[in-house]
Amino acid sequence: MITGASAGIGRAAARAFAARGDRIGLLARGRAGLDGAVQDVTAAGGKALPVVTDVADHQQLDFAAAQVEEAFGPIDVWVNVAFTSVFAPFTEISAEEFRRVTEVSYLGFVHGTMAALTRMRERDAGTIVQVGSALGARAIPLQSAYCGAKHAINGFTESVRTELLHEHSKVNITVVQMPALNTPQFSWVLSRLPRHPQPVAPIYQPEVAARAIVYAADHPRRKQRWVGASTVATILGQRLMPAVLDRYLAKTGYASQQTGDRVGPDRPANLWEPLDDEPGDDHGAHGTFDDQALGHSPQLWLTEHARPLSVAAAGAAVAFGGAALSRQIR
Ligand SMILES: NC(=O)c1ccc[n+]([C@@H]2O[C@H](COP(=O)([O-])OP(=O)(O)OC[C@H]3O[C@@H](n4cnc5c(N)ncnc54)[C@H](OP(=O)(O)O)[C@@H]3O)[C@@H](O)[C@H]2O)c1
Repeated sequence: MITGASAGIGRAAARAFAARGDRIGLLARGRAGLDGAVQDVTAAGGKALPVVTDVADHQQLDFAAAQVEEAFGPIDVWVNVAFTSVFAPFTEISAEEFRRVTEVSYLGFVHGTMAALTRMRERDAGTIVQVGSALGARAIPLQSAYCGAKHAINGFTESVRTELLHEHSKVNITVVQMPALNTPQFSWVLSRLPRHPQPVAPIYQPEVAARAIVYAADHPRRKQRWVGASTVATILGQRLMPAVLDRYLAKTGYASQQTGDRVGPDRPANLWEPLDDEPGDDHGAHGTFDDQALGHSPQLWLTEHARPLSVAAAGAAVAFGGAALSRQIR
């Protein structure tokens, strides 16, 4: 099950799971985006059931889960991805807008986790993957509602994880903290910035995130996984010198989140309604930063290969030690 499967990271993740022949429930609001996702999944070798769902509404999510289980059987993996935001100084965001971002980007994850756990705890099996962000550890200017939601997801998930551990459950819950990614969000999220929003470099392609999600779903016992060297640096930097980062981001965070292109105040936004609902409006997985985005993360590669590498290193150490010992004995 993937929420936010019509575009961006959710869409890329749907393709990555489909490449293994998986059957996937695709949840989002936009029909054109969902149709495109179904085509992607089918082309990649999987099967898809799209369900038009607003994650802010718990009942809609629960209904979607029931529909997908009826079609495909028990849900093994639930990936919470759907989100929205407002790019603006806090003082320029209305209370209604802030609440809406929180209901989608935070409570959407809570609702998804509820719908998943209701089913998984009964069977004592299953994995929930929360798509987090480096900004869930280190907040930045112009994204107060989003950063609040991403921080909240970490706290909420940590609490649920301790409860699952307490009851010796075999259900897993894990968070994948992502770096900046080239997705459509920068073109359709509500923005009050004078210039076009952009992710802060280094920017990775959504396929990097998708690979990390599949890896986390297959290796779910870890509490968190960090994707990309920039995520590692951000989280560790925050632990070491949060006040220095406050000043650094106050100085650089406005310019680094905008391109040089001016944008009018009436840019359409996906906060209340989807922008990929009408035929021809499918936005796909990628945003407008293909020319800058990195298709690989050496840090993710190391994560994926940590075990084989450590086994190989241990084997080499044993062989080397054995050879040295036999030379000494001779
Ligand atoms: N892109 C980045 O730089 C970045 C970095 C770190 C973490 N992340 C995380 O990655 C996740 C996805 O981000 P993204 O960049 O891929 O976003 P995106 O391109 O804007 O895609 C967002 C997805 O969420 C869906 N969605 C939005 N509102 C919804 C609602 N009310 N109900 C159901 N679905 C809704 C959208 O589809 P509809 O509009 O059709 O509903 C779309 O499928 C988020 O959790 C974000 O925090 C992204």
